[in-house]
Amino acid sequence: MVEADQKPHAIFVAYPLQGHVIPSVHLAIKLASKGFIITFINTHSIHHQTTKAQANADQDIFTAVRQSGLDIRYTTVSDGLPVEFDRSLNHDQFMAALLHVFSAHVEEAVAKIVRSSEVPPVSCLIADTFFVWPSKVAKKFGLKYISYWTEAALVFSLYYHVDLLRVNGHFGCHDSREDKIDYIPGVRSIDPKDMTSYLQESDTSVCHQIIFTSFKDVRGADFVLCNTIQELEPETVSALQAKMPFYAVGPIFPTGFTKSTVATSLWPESDCTSWLNTKPHGSVLYVSFGSYAHVTKNDLIEIAHGLSLSKVNFVWVLRPDIVSSDDEDPLPVGFKEEIHDRAMIIPWCCQIQVLTHQAIGGFLTHCGWNSILESLWCEVPLMCFPLLTDQFTNRRLVVDDWKIGD
Ligand code: UDX
Repeated sequence: MVEADQKPHAIFVAYPLQGHVIPSVHLAIKLASKGFIITFINTHSIHHQTTKAQANADQDIFTAVRQSGLDIRYTTVSDGLPVEFDRSLNHDQFMAALLHVFSAHVEEAVAKIVRSSEVPPVSCLIADTFFVWPSKVAKKFGLKYISYWTEAALVFSLYYHVDLLRVNGHFGCHDSREDKIDYIPGVRSIDPKDMTSYLQESDTSVCHQIIFTSFKDVRGADFVLCNTIQELEPETVSALQAKMPFYAVGPIFPTGFTKSTVATSLWPESDCTSWLNTKPHGSVLYVSFGSYAHVTKNDLIEIAHGLSLSKVNFVWVLRPDIVSSDDEDPLPVGFKEEIHDRAMIIPWCCQIQVLTHQAIGGFLTHCGWNSILESLWCEVPLMCFPLLTDQFTNRRLVVDDWKIGD
């Protein structure tokens, strides 16, 4: 048995978005189960939303796993904005705070942990690749930097080679080339319309600044851990491995692919199990567009009409801010009454619990990377409706490369 003072101690900073917090919590648990001491840092805002979403929430989300013997400590820092600030409605301000202000708060927290005589010495910093500061902060405190990429290796490769895209005229000019991109190492050929949404835009935003800066910073990482599966992206992973210590460590899921004892949902979960139990095997379509992207009101209405006409049973996760947090009831008038006996419309659920239910026969998805990994695991076929960011590139993997969706 390794003594506590001999165990490696890592500070783990999760990106404050739902689709990043979930795989970060589960990587932290995996590392702790292999003998790491982890100090996990969430933002005040993520912590507040997570605990508000649970009945009987514990102030320390890791209490249960610590009781099971893992050494995961927990702390929170400000992201620079008040806890109650509506980050969904004011997305660019939120991103600007992450770009410009967050690092000062993290640095203060890291300094406190590293200099404390009451905790075991810290040897590394694990942080999401999208942060713009980790290699600098790690260097300042003499820590190894382990960068955690929670998306596909293909997406990492596109961002990593953004200068190549620029030089070749596929990105960064007003009339970008529309022919296929065939010069990125490890990427056989990709249509520009399958690049991430940011790489298809000619005007740059705060998100572009985050991508450009973080992909400079990641060049200073000692290791990159990617939540993908080597066999599913072999050429891209190998090409990246030729450039840097890049490891495909996925799929990162809760232990046993069952509902986690660590609370990670930002919205209260509705339980669909009893309702699903009444439905025949493979008869229910699960519909969800993840935690981050918005759907336009027109698209939402079209989807509602499609679901209505299809006559299939469905579970539809409609986040309270799915169109906008200032539009609370975007569904067409009469829709809920029309479909009430064959559908459940809920604000959020435990998705892995739903996907593992035998009544589920398909998933209409926005192609978030976690959703794709989870569906692959459960062998649920996908219908793809990408909305933003990496989702277009993920669609290409699902439909064109792996042929597990449409
Ligand atoms: C966005 C990106 O699109 C994604 O590719 C990136 O990796 C993270 O940011 P998001 O919209 O959050 O992702 O989607 P996704 O990656 O699918 O993650 C959503 C997570 O929330 C999944 O783990 C899913 O199981 C969970 N979820 C979703 C629930 O637990 N309940 C729900 O009702 C909906």
